[in-house]
Amino acid sequence: MAIISVNIADRPYEVIVGAGLLADLVPNCGGRLRKREVPIITDTHVHAAWGEVVEAALRGHGHEPHWRVLQPGERTKSWNELAATVDWLLAQGVERGDHILALGGGVIGDLTGFAAAILKRGCHFIQLPTTLLAQVDSSVGGKTAINTAAGKNLVGAFHQPSLVLADLAVLDTLPERELRAGYAEVVKYGLIGDAQFFSWCETNGGALLAGDAAIREYAVAHSVAHKAQIVAEDERETTGTRALLNLGHTFGHALEAETGYSSQLLHGEAVAIGMVLAARYSAHRELMPSASAEHISHHFQTMGMRSELAQLGLSCDGQALVGHMLHDKKMDAGTLPFVLMHGIGKSYIDREVELEDVARFLDKELAGT
Ligand SMILES: NC(=O)c1ccc[n+]([C@@H]2O[C@H](COP(=O)([O-])OP(=O)(O)OC[C@H]3O[C@@H](n4cnc5c(N)ncnc54)[C@H](O)[C@@H]3O)[C@@H](O)[C@H]2O)c1
Ligand SMILES: [Zn+2]
Repeated sequence: MAIISVNIADRPYEVIVGAGLLADLVPNCGGRLRKREVPIITDTHVHAAWGEVVEAALRGHGHEPHWRVLQPGERTKSWNELAATVDWLLAQGVERGDHILALGGGVIGDLTGFAAAILKRGCHFIQLPTTLLAQVDSSVGGKTAINTAAGKNLVGAFHQPSLVLADLAVLDTLPERELRAGYAEVVKYGLIGDAQFFSWCETNGGALLAGDAAIREYAVAHSVAHKAQIVAEDERETTGTRALLNLGHTFGHALEAETGYSSQLLHGEAVAIGMVLAARYSAHRELMPSASAEHISHHFQTMGMRSELAQLGLSCDGQALVGHMLHDKKMDAGTLPFVLMHGIGKSYIDREVELEDVARFLDKELAGT
């Protein structure tokens, strides 16, 4: 088991990483569940896989879970579901000092976190992340959001959880494709600022996907520690440090938009290709050797992941992808900051990228040349 502190000035909290944390949920919540009734929000997939374990863990300590089981998928992060969830929490009589449990991937975590942020001007919530992506990324750092007709995550709040319990056992029921997609975000920490961790991923990525318990614990704990450090330095993305976590995301979001946020391309899959594009674009700008960019692509391919834009078979051109980027919420006074690389583990924010040049670069990548 590993315990990582997220040292945000006025509200520090812990992320606990280990196998079997849900089965021992009540002691692991450390006295935070102060009433008999415990409101818990999840989706149908997670409920089917882990509902009984959580139910037994709560009842075994005299608690009564009050479940809200939502439809899986991105569409759940909507105004309608937010309103219905907040009304449901009010009907449950949730008070500010109570803790709401979010059991699921990033969709459940983002929606529940946002509901907690606005319920009675902010009540507590505990993240119980059940995807690799949620364990290494979305459950930590306090970004919560829903999607609107204008785009993804455009409405939300910074609201930190009181505790995160990342139970590695849940990864056993996660579909393999989701596991691989989450793995892209693990590799991201290496590429941002930790070349040694990227090498570790090259050696151990296969074992991680295959289910090696010690390797999984190290990967999640190391990723969380990296994110915790960045979030503690720049909670609200004001100084720029936190923006490094967007490596591969400007390219990736454009690909997600172009594929309609559909199952054609999962978020992590888009980020893997996006990181390769960021690396190749950096090489194109002669910021880093193109061999390093190819090294990254090679690793994803070895892991059975798509790393090439041309592999998506999109029918659009580079300009269309740049058009999607212009809707990015990172747009700032007409410029779009890109995370580029001086090498593996040497990412930085570049605010002077010329979008015309990016469009030309993407045309070549789309053609696979
Ligand atoms: N807040 C942040 O900082 C942040 C960061 C990154 C991503 N996000 C958000 O996270 C969301 C994506 O999250 P995600 O990738 O976890 O997807 P998700 O929540 O949609 O989960 C993926 C799928 O796996 C299923 N599932 C989850 N856990 C399972 C388990 N243990 N066993 C079996 N099935 C399981 C879910 O039902 C769903 O079908 C996006 O909405 C994205 O915007 C937020
Ligand atoms: Zn991401």
